[in-house]
Amino acid sequence: MTSPTETERFEQILRYLEQTRGFDFTAYKRTTLMRRVMKRMQMINIAEFDEYLDYLQVHQEEFAALFNTILINVTSFFRDPDVWSCLRDEIIPTLLESKKDEGPVRVWSAGCASGQEPYSLAILFAEALGADALRDRVKIYATDADDEALAQARAATYSQRQVADVPEALVKRCFDSVNGNFVVNRDLRRAVIFGRHDLLQDAPISKVDLLLCRNTLMYFNSEAQARIVQRLYFSLNPSGYAILGRAEMLFTHATAFTPVDLKRRVFRTVPKANARDRLLMMTPANRDGGQAASQDARLRELAFEHDSIAQLLLGADGTLSAVNGLARHKFHITARDVGRPFQDLEVSYRPAEIRGALDRAVQQRTEVRLSDVPWTVSGLLRHFDAAVCPVFEDTGTLLGIRISFHDITEMRALQIELQHSKQELETAYEELQSTNEELETTNEELQSTVEELETTNEELQSANEELETMNEELQSTNEELQAMNDELRGRGTEVNRANAFLESIFTSMSSAVVVLDRELRVKVWNDRAADLWGVRADEVHKVHFLGLDIGLPVADLRQPIREVLNGQHERATVTLPATSRRGRAIECKVSVTPLRGTERDPVGVLLFMEEIPAENVS
Ligand SMILES: C[S@@+](CC[C@H](N)C(=O)[O-])C[C@H]1O[C@@H](n2cnc3c(N)ncnc32)[C@H](O)[C@@H]1O
Repeated sequence: MTSPTETERFEQILRYLEQTRGFDFTAYKRTTLMRRVMKRMQMINIAEFDEYLDYLQVHQEEFAALFNTILINVTSFFRDPDVWSCLRDEIIPTLLESKKDEGPVRVWSAGCASGQEPYSLAILFAEALGADALRDRVKIYATDADDEALAQARAATYSQRQVADVPEALVKRCFDSVNGNFVVNRDLRRAVIFGRHDLLQDAPISKVDLLLCRNTLMYFNSEAQARIVQRLYFSLNPSGYAILGRAEMLFTHATAFTPVDLKRRVFRTVPKANARDRLLMMTPANRDGGQAASQDARLRELAFEHDSIAQLLLGADGTLSAVNGLARHKFHITARDVGRPFQDLEVSYRPAEIRGALDRAVQQRTEVRLSDVPWTVSGLLRHFDAAVCPVFEDTGTLLGIRISFHDITEMRALQIELQHSKQELETAYEELQSTNEELETTNEELQSTVEELETTNEELQSANEELETMNEELQSTNEELQAMNDELRGRGTEVNRANAFLESIFTSMSSAVVVLDRELRVKVWNDRAADLWGVRADEVHKVHFLGLDIGLPVADLRQPIREVLNGQHERATVTLPATSRRGRAIECKVSVTPLRGTERDPVGVLLFMEEIPAENVS
């Protein structure tokens, strides 16, 4: 875990980079960024951030190296072959078809690193259209924030290893071989326009038909990613394609891009909203009201007769003055009853005691109501509301009394039904209420599960991005290791050559030559020595020389060898009686000289042994 002070010191470096170089790294993922800066510090043996800040302030050339380490430029031709076969077989043909074989095609490779991605695009368009149409119609904008990577891209020169992923036939057609390297040919180079472009700060390229932004966004934090994706979205034509990298497939991009082929990470833009206001005109319907008919007595009469409320009219003296059809029918009153005192009629006390109500209404000069009066009509029980209403002249004198019976049977049944329904509704409402509460609880649980899932998803996404980033880093380390490997292999070849050369020298020498290290162990034993003493080189290799049992009295050489090793002599020569491989007595002249390495003291000795011809022996 990083301590706050260490974090603060790291932030100071970022601020310094922004102030002096105008490069804002604050939108990059902190963990990745810190790891990359620490990697650079390790390379130059610096352990602390503040020490590194001092170093940056003094060594201007360090910026380039640091940027190089932070802006990981790993890329290759036709990287992720699946994506490129989809581009070749589906996207590019569809795109060209939609352009009806005319009109410019605008392509953008955002985060193009050292150019392999835009040149791969140029190769595919050249294969689809031919060199002439490529030149006339296709513009591939290739942008990156790293100047050094852009310089390499512009040079368009790649090593054998870098073009290894390009099919051989395409290498032949699209590259020129120059000094063992491969240079992208002129037509393709002219189709690609390189430029420095910071995805975080600069305005996007517009009206793009095909956008590639791969393995670039994953270095940024999620807000920066969302911001960039929004810009990329607006840079694309409505029918444009976007190819994102493995780590660029955030679900949050769904508002901008919709997948065409998720596996290959091919997207199209979500259609930009086309709001259209609609105006709804409404003409109010006017209807002419009917002209009220003039009211004549006949109308009043008939209206009264056919009223749906049973009515009786009494005069001020209490005699029945008029009775309508319904009242006659319900209360068994006949035309002959008109003119009779009301209290003589059955209706005055049945179904309800109307007489008392009548007296009260007249006395109190107000309407008296009797509610819910039961009455069996034609064998059926019905219910009425009765009203006794005194009618006064304008002068206030009593003119008569109106008695009405309002049949409320249906209304009552409805009321009872309503009551039941109300109760059922209340029960249902209570059940609904409790279901609702359960739903709310479930909803809250779901909400929290969704939130947990979203968090897990985000964690997975960020772990994925982290893995992708580490993968890129590993790839870049791998490339470094491969370069070192190549160098080591070269050196090995040189060493082998030097060894062979030395061996041929030793073999060609007419003298027997023996080389000993400082411990007097045999390092070289040439063919002549083997021939002279009858012992093969592999038998004596690393064996102590003074312990050898050969025809030479090796013990007599101890002294001269010591003296040469100690630097007492530059050469010591002794002649010793010896016995050759064939058992012949010979005289052997042995010269001891020092074997010099890079140190001051000899690292061993060289022994030259020669048989002295008999005529020279004195
Ligand atoms: C790993 S490379 C991807 C190269 C290529 N797109 C591919 O997938 O093979 C990432 C590139 O993103 C570039 N980059 C990093 N930050 C950037 C920024 N703010 N604006 C533009 N490019 C940026 C780096 O310089 C680097 O070249």
